[in-house]
Amino acid sequence: MKADILNILRSRDGVISGEAISEQLDISRVSVWKHIQKLQQSGYSIESTPKGYRLIDSPDIPYPWEFKEKEFLIHYFPEIESTMDTARDLAQNGCAPFTVVVADRQKNGRGRMKRVWVSEAGGLYMTIVLRPQVPLSYGMRHMFAVSVVLCRVIREWTGVDARVKWPNDILVDGQKLCGMLSEMETEADMVYYLNVGIGVNVNNDPAADEPNSCSLLKLTGRFWSRKDLLSRFMTALKDYLSHMDLGLVVSDWKTLSSTPGKPVRIVMPDQTVEGIARDIDDTGGLIIELADGTRKTILFGDCFEQHEPATHHP
Ligand code: BTN
Repeated sequence: MKADILNILRSRDGVISGEAISEQLDISRVSVWKHIQKLQQSGYSIESTPKGYRLIDSPDIPYPWEFKEKEFLIHYFPEIESTMDTARDLAQNGCAPFTVVVADRQKNGRGRMKRVWVSEAGGLYMTIVLRPQVPLSYGMRHMFAVSVVLCRVIREWTGVDARVKWPNDILVDGQKLCGMLSEMETEADMVYYLNVGIGVNVNNDPAADEPNSCSLLKLTGRFWSRKDLLSRFMTALKDYLSHMDLGLVVSDWKTLSSTPGKPVRIVMPDQTVEGIARDIDDTGGLIIELADGTRKTILFGDCFEQHEPATHHP
């Protein structure tokens, strides 16, 4: 009903009477008034006069009713411990694919390699539940697909030169705009769910906690709607995954990547290696060339692009 009332208010430039709304929706005028009050309490600026109602402004909050036919997929929280935990509960209880848990702030936001992900107001913090019908070994390609889609959406929508960095960061001019984290459960060797947690610096300023980071606001000098970003991303991801050629994901990713050819330092849980990033293999492993000219494939770790080649083999 909130979506219906907002649709009517948005279809009008001026005032619309409570009576007209009640007739269109076949509900009482008292009921219209109650819904309007709830919308006002949720942050919508709606002028209310004896002549009727006028929508002045909508908050940039990803309320489920703002997502049309995707409404039932959105679980919104003003504040949460971590969207990963709630999404895991939903996934284990059989929620639909493309379910999204999204929050304005996280008290316990998690990054990769056991890091903290500071989650202040203004950023987009979400976990999307995917249920690819593939064996475990293909799971990583879906992570690459998510980075490809989000990177393209950001490029096309905002015009910033977003690039993917192995394994799943999105950078602009070497500064981190977005980080991703995955959690997967399998059943009889097939993926049961793949939850992808995504933090995008939209209108927040992450640089105080993370010096080598940026946000859309900082890059462009204007605010961007988190609601629109989420909606565009969900539509584009569903479309990409429904036509996905598993063999092409990695090549799509490579065309958006800044990593190949760069000197890199890879920090893994048990060791650190340096070399030149040469390629990504079909499963998404990073192939690096070591100082002695041999090649090594890295499946998991953090990648830091170096400015000066410490070890270079032409
Ligand atoms: C990284 O680059 O280290 C990954 C960061 C992932 C952060 C997101 S924010 C939404 C989701 N919930 C979390 O606790 N973490 C992920």
